[in-house]
Amino acid sequence: MLSENRSLVQCLGLLLVVTFLIRRLRQWQRLRHIPGPPLAGFSRLFWLVPMARSGDLPGWMRVAEQKYGRIVRVGPNMLMTTDWKLWRRIMSARSRYVRAERFKGFRLDPTKDHVLSLTDEREHSRLRTIMIHGYSGKEVEGVEEKVDHEVLSLVDLLESRYISQNKIFDFGRKAQYFTTDVVAHITFGRPLGFLATDSDVYNYISIIEKQLPVIGMMLNYPGFVKLLNWPIFNRLLPKAEDESGMGKLMGLAKEAAAERFGPNKKVQKDMLGSFVARGLTQDEVEAEIPLQLLAGSDTTATAIRTTVLLVTTNPRVLRKLQAEIDSVAPYPKDQVIRDETAKALPYLNAVVKEGLRWAPPGVDLSAKVVPPGGDEWEGVVLPAGAEIGWNATGLMRVPELFGDDADHFRPERWTDPNTSPEKRKDMETAGDLVFGVGSRYQCLGRTIALMEIRKAIFELYRRYEFEVIHPDKPWLSRCWNVYEQHEFWVKAYTRDSASTA
Ligand code: HEM
Repeated sequence: MLSENRSLVQCLGLLLVVTFLIRRLRQWQRLRHIPGPPLAGFSRLFWLVPMARSGDLPGWMRVAEQKYGRIVRVGPNMLMTTDWKLWRRIMSARSRYVRAERFKGFRLDPTKDHVLSLTDEREHSRLRTIMIHGYSGKEVEGVEEKVDHEVLSLVDLLESRYISQNKIFDFGRKAQYFTTDVVAHITFGRPLGFLATDSDVYNYISIIEKQLPVIGMMLNYPGFVKLLNWPIFNRLLPKAEDESGMGKLMGLAKEAAAERFGPNKKVQKDMLGSFVARGLTQDEVEAEIPLQLLAGSDTTATAIRTTVLLVTTNPRVLRKLQAEIDSVAPYPKDQVIRDETAKALPYLNAVVKEGLRWAPPGVDLSAKVVPPGGDEWEGVVLPAGAEIGWNATGLMRVPELFGDDADHFRPERWTDPNTSPEKRKDMETAGDLVFGVGSRYQCLGRTIALMEIRKAIFELYRRYEFEVIHPDKPWLSRCWNVYEQHEFWVKAYTRDSASTA
């Protein structure tokens, strides 16, 4: 009897293994016509997971692209592309592609979605329609003044603590203090004090940096997000009662949301005011605030840090940028360039675009699902249900689009009078993909981010000369889905010129 039972269990076990192998083989078969790393088609463990753990997403993606071409198979059901026309088509408003489950990995609370983690396209579109008014700045008072306030806090900090005392500083951290205070100021109505205290308030940045690799894994195994609801794991998650990290910000978000609802609700013409007036619920407001900080601080800080490194180490670019800056200065030190003026400076804008192109700050695959009936692109069959994401850095370095020197930082490529209008249009359209595209998938914070970057770069180079302390290893830069960049030691000197009155 006992041996009969054992044989039955063995048979069942064997059946399970065989079923599993057949399913894997079928899955492998479906996308076998698309080249990719040899074992990637059998399991996420062979390419997607090592990539997520590597801390060098752009490096992994670029090696795959250089070896296998513009559409690469990187997982059992995952493709990756550097073809900007294909990616734009997938992301466009009329496309039938939808967000992959992967986006669930962006949840900060495993029980709650926010606009970036929603995979239900109708819900996603409802939230975007509400929130776009607040983000566009049309219903919000004083966005530019809030950004200016933080630009001045940044220069105050650099001058009082470092320049006047001839000290070096980690510009990686200062840039992130700046961008986090900007988003907090626009969202909560006040900065959180990163710049004022010159510190990582609530250990927010260091705790988030530790969580970035975990978020990277969650994106590849979105099913695990549900497991986090189990009591055994639930205790480990950030809570609104925490005194530090994301939990603390969730607590602040709860308080800020509570003020806007109920009989004594505060009515203000700020971003939260716009969200509430347009119909966001208290629960939804609570979920959106921490996301804003997460989506808006690392990304914009990366753009500013990268641009400062590239401009500082390219004397030709530095000279041209400072000449343009000086053409609209001098004006008093306690004033910040108006965005209207900054937007009209061709070289400044070329520098900003080139920094974003050279290292796109959001590097996640951002995968979308091929619609029912499948699709075809330049002869390549894309079966229904397959997922396809982009290789952001690879796409921004395609030589046919950006030139043979696409790997170099050369802002002039955006202003070259010899470029045909058609080519210029293609470059602009492809370059703007760093912010996503269209009414469904464009970054909601794009306008704010560009204003911040323009103002920060202008005001830093109007006032200072920078020196990179360790040119052989300028910073510690790791990329999970966004970058973690610090130990970027620099020294700044006040410019001896007419650029400040
Ligand atoms: C250089 C800076 C930034 C870059 C490169 C960037 C990039 C992106 C990209 C590519 C997406 C689309 C993801 C997708 O659906 O596939 C996105 C979404 C988003 N971004 Fe940004 N972002 C930046 C700054 C900001 C800032 C400053 C904020 C907030 C103030 C922000 C808030 C958001 C939000 C809320 C979403 C979700 C939109 C949605 O799901 O519909 N971002 N961002």
